[in-house]
Amino acid sequence: MKEQQTMREFFSRMIQEKTAEELERTIADATRMMSYFRCAMLEVETKFRVLNEQFSLLHERNPIESIKTRIKSFDSIRGKLQRNNLPFSLDVIEEKINDIAGVRVICAFVDDIYVLADCIARQDDITVLKVKDYIKNPKENGYRSLHLILEIPIFLSEEKRKMKVEVQLRTIAMESWANLEHRMRYKKNLSEEKLAKTADMLMQCATLSSALDEKMQAVRDIVEEKDGCQI
Ligand code: GTP
Ligand code: MG
Repeated sequence: MKEQQTMREFFSRMIQEKTAEELERTIADATRMMSYFRCAMLEVETKFRVLNEQFSLLHERNPIESIKTRIKSFDSIRGKLQRNNLPFSLDVIEEKINDIAGVRVICAFVDDIYVLADCIARQDDITVLKVKDYIKNPKENGYRSLHLILEIPIFLSEEKRKMKVEVQLRTIAMESWANLEHRMRYKKNLSEEKLAKTADMLMQCATLSSALDEKMQAVRDIVEEKDGCQI
């Protein structure tokens, strides 16, 4: 309900020249588009839950610790359009913004991230549009995660539509690092000195978290035979 209100305010400001009727139509179209993204997000979440279930049948353990999903708010969509100098239109939003539907998959072990990504990529209704491997190539600040932009069909009563979903796969250690870094980024009024110090300390945390992931993986590899993606 709150999102509906935000959307109404958002569209009233973005498209002032439109008539009341056109405005209502745009709001209806936007509501439909967001609902399609929500459906695509649910589809992708279910695919990961199915893989988790099957993996536990075959290997007696769950590769996934937890899954988080979110739909980008209209405020964030507006911010991203402005940052990228993109004109406002639903077509532009659908075509250019890849992370309206987001699925975050949190695993205990790094290997599982690649096993899951591989299993998803091989499903015949999924197209992988983009891969960013910030695990093999961490960002300068130390951020690690595997990002996939997927395209997935959703089946509506009278048509099939392909929608994009951003998937972030990370370990528990990567998740806790990213959450801390994200919180720090929005801390206002930090002195230059404190900013430099926290950036440096976060980099050290990233190094430690990466070493922790490696060690945990090594323990698991000893305890179990390594599993390939046979599911
Ligand atoms: P946006 O960052 O979404 O504008 O898109 P991008 O094209 O730069 O995509 P990228 O794949 O690099 O990042 C997408 C998402 O990953 C972000 O929206 C964040 O959720 C997450 N992410 C990327 N870099 C960082 C980082 O340095 N720290 C944290 N905490 N999250 C990050
Ligand atoms: Mg994003």
